[in-house]
Amino acid sequence: MINRIPGTRDILPPEISLWQHIEAIARAILSNYNYQEIRPPLVEEAGLFNRSLGDFTEVVQKQMFLIPKGDDLYALRPEGTASVVRAYIENGLDKTTGFMKFFYTGPMFRLERPQKGRQRQFHHLGCEVFGSEGPLIDAEVIFLIKELLDAFKIEGYRIKLNSLGCQEDKKKFSRLLTERFEAEKSNFCQECNQRLKNNVLRILDCKNDSCRAIVDKLNIGHNHLCPECLDHFNKVKAHLEKLNVVFEITPQLVRGLDYYTRTVFEITHSELGAQDAVGAGGRYDNLVEDLGGPKTPAIGFAFGMERLLLVTKLKNIERKGPSVYLITLGDKAKNESLALLKNLRQEQIACDTDFEEKSLKGSMRKANDIGADFVLILGDNELQKQTIMLKDMALKSQEEIPLANLITELKKRIK
Ligand code: HAM
Repeated sequence: MINRIPGTRDILPPEISLWQHIEAIARAILSNYNYQEIRPPLVEEAGLFNRSLGDFTEVVQKQMFLIPKGDDLYALRPEGTASVVRAYIENGLDKTTGFMKFFYTGPMFRLERPQKGRQRQFHHLGCEVFGSEGPLIDAEVIFLIKELLDAFKIEGYRIKLNSLGCQEDKKKFSRLLTERFEAEKSNFCQECNQRLKNNVLRILDCKNDSCRAIVDKLNIGHNHLCPECLDHFNKVKAHLEKLNVVFEITPQLVRGLDYYTRTVFEITHSELGAQDAVGAGGRYDNLVEDLGGPKTPAIGFAFGMERLLLVTKLKNIERKGPSVYLITLGDKAKNESLALLKNLRQEQIACDTDFEEKSLKGSMRKANDIGADFVLILGDNELQKQTIMLKDMALKSQEEIPLANLITELKKRIK
């Protein structure tokens, strides 16, 4: 017996109905906002992620599913943004209308230590918008997140908001932090000591108590933002307030991927425990250009589907089985079953049969189990007379009808 690998799951019925329901809600809302679906491949050149997420990010350093192929190195995608940006450039989409809104759903892969809400294969529902620099789109994206979460019947989430500023602001801020933190080196956890060398911003959202105490002492605000970035941030906040979106300014929020500039946000939920983010995102105004495209501002976010499912109040939907169940008795009748089912399905009558030889009693039990409304019994006798037995399971009645009238008789009865 070979089992699934740790950190992966089989999504089975009836749980799958909840996935489909959430996806259907999302598709309807996203279509209202003019988002179009995009399906990039699950596997890309590993370099795409190194260049997008950053060489020193945890995802690239420790979590990539790598596949060497000759001189090439492929990777299962750990996230969707880099692939969507690659697709945007490679397919010349920047040369069409320029401004474009995309959404995607599908599996992502990260070799993390599995725990509640943290898997090695998980699913994103993500959006990416290209071609708008102004604060309006930031506010629309965050409002869209709120609308989606409300429609998914998720209550008690918190929207944390910050601005990292432009690339220059980030550099300036990193230098400032490095200077301040050098003196505290010995009090940082091992990982933050590493971050001090190559990813100092990440120290800000370290969960370790002693690191947190050092960060709290700094009293970080938004002094590192240049006037343009500060103005952008203020306008995003004002638009959100106008839309009555409740958010929390969180200066320590830096996100774990290097491509972000200006607006960043995270949506947390206390019922999730240690891995409390149901979704996150932000602006990445330099990524299209960094990956070889024209200068194109962009913003996006992704929800973790598994985490949405942990906190939604929506319930699995019990699937209704086929309304008609055909029981054939004898070889001749059995030989007619596929043609009969084909005719019913052509008329949109959902039906099934027992493909194996069973007693009438056993087959009736099966019809009951799947919740069939009507049972058809066809024996060699009936076949000879060109009739069929039609049982109404609710009324507990049965009658023999001409085979030629079967569809009309069923349609009369099916609600
Ligand atoms: P991220 O924060 O790495 O951002 O992932 C987004 C969400 O995916 C998280 O908030 C979490 O809900 C879920 N998630 C992440 N890792 C796991 C895991 N191992 N198991 C289960 N769920 C997980 C991104 O990936 C960015 N691409 C989001 C974005 C889009 N930014 C701009 N556009």
